[in-house]
Amino acid sequence: MRAIVTGSAAGIGRATALKLHHDARQRGDKTQLMLVDLQADKLESVAKELRDEGAEVETFGGDLTDVSVPGRVVEATVKAFGGIDALISNAGVIKNGSLMDIEVEDYELAFNINTRATWLLVKAARPHLAEAKGAIVATGSISGFHPTPPLGAYSASKAALIMMVRQLAVELGPEGIRCNAVSPGSTHTAMTDARYSQPELAAEAAKKNPLHMIGQPEHQAAAIAFLAGPEAAYITGENILVDGGMQNMLMPASAMGDPWKR
Ligand SMILES: NC(=O)c1ccc[n+]([C@@H]2O[C@H](COP(=O)([O-])OP(=O)(O)OC[C@H]3O[C@@H](n4cnc5c(N)ncnc54)[C@H](O)[C@@H]3O)[C@@H](O)[C@H]2O)c1
Repeated sequence: MRAIVTGSAAGIGRATALKLHHDARQRGDKTQLMLVDLQADKLESVAKELRDEGAEVETFGGDLTDVSVPGRVVEATVKAFGGIDALISNAGVIKNGSLMDIEVEDYELAFNINTRATWLLVKAARPHLAEAKGAIVATGSISGFHPTPPLGAYSASKAALIMMVRQLAVELGPEGIRCNAVSPGSTHTAMTDARYSQPELAAEAAKKNPLHMIGQPEHQAAAIAFLAGPEAAYITGENILVDGGMQNMLMPASAMGDPWKR
């Protein structure tokens, strides 16, 4: 599998790159990965980890909010591997702030990385994905479904991304390109470490879902790799919420009190 994985210097992106490689190896396929991230140094250590396991890996250190970068990423991938089978658009940022408190630059950052970068990557990769009958998987968020104070711009940008995935599925399906999303709930990565590395806060957050767990990057990676792979050949325009069931907690959390108290 020839895949681009953005935001792969850490967290869900790193775990996805590893999972894609492990799945491809199991199928007897080779893995050729273009890892993309702002954090070029960290990217190199993930690349080494994967090369040590036998994957062929190139890296692209760059800022995906720069409109020239997505096209250059695609160009570098095609030059290195001759095509693209999967585009995993996963890079994202959280910046706290309610919609009433943030400034234009906060709004733009959220939409430019969480939403626009996916669109530009897809636009550039389209002919190559069409040739390979390939797949796109974008990382959404449970915040794209439920307003999440104080993540005003983040929630709105992820909701836009989730609709963009459905729109792309319809536009690109006739070319044989599938497009899906995976929307994480609470997952312990660098993005959430300040909260989940504190046992009390982690335990409190875990109680917000029926499994009483905090997700790990590998939980997200499993869903992303599934949607990117051949077993999902008939799935497009879908979103898998990987949230420990948290989306089902609205009534228990509000009107009904503690659902586990009998
Ligand atoms: N961790 C969670 O609880 C959670 C929940 C919902 C959604 N998500 C989403 O999952 C995705 C992965 O996040 P994560 O949790 O692994 O966090 P993370 O911070 O470990 O990974 C995000 C990566 O994206 C990179 N990145 C950020 N801005 C970039 C830019 N402009 N150009 C290139 N790279 C950039 C970062 O350097 C980082 O390596 C994000 O889209 C995030 O919004 C995470």
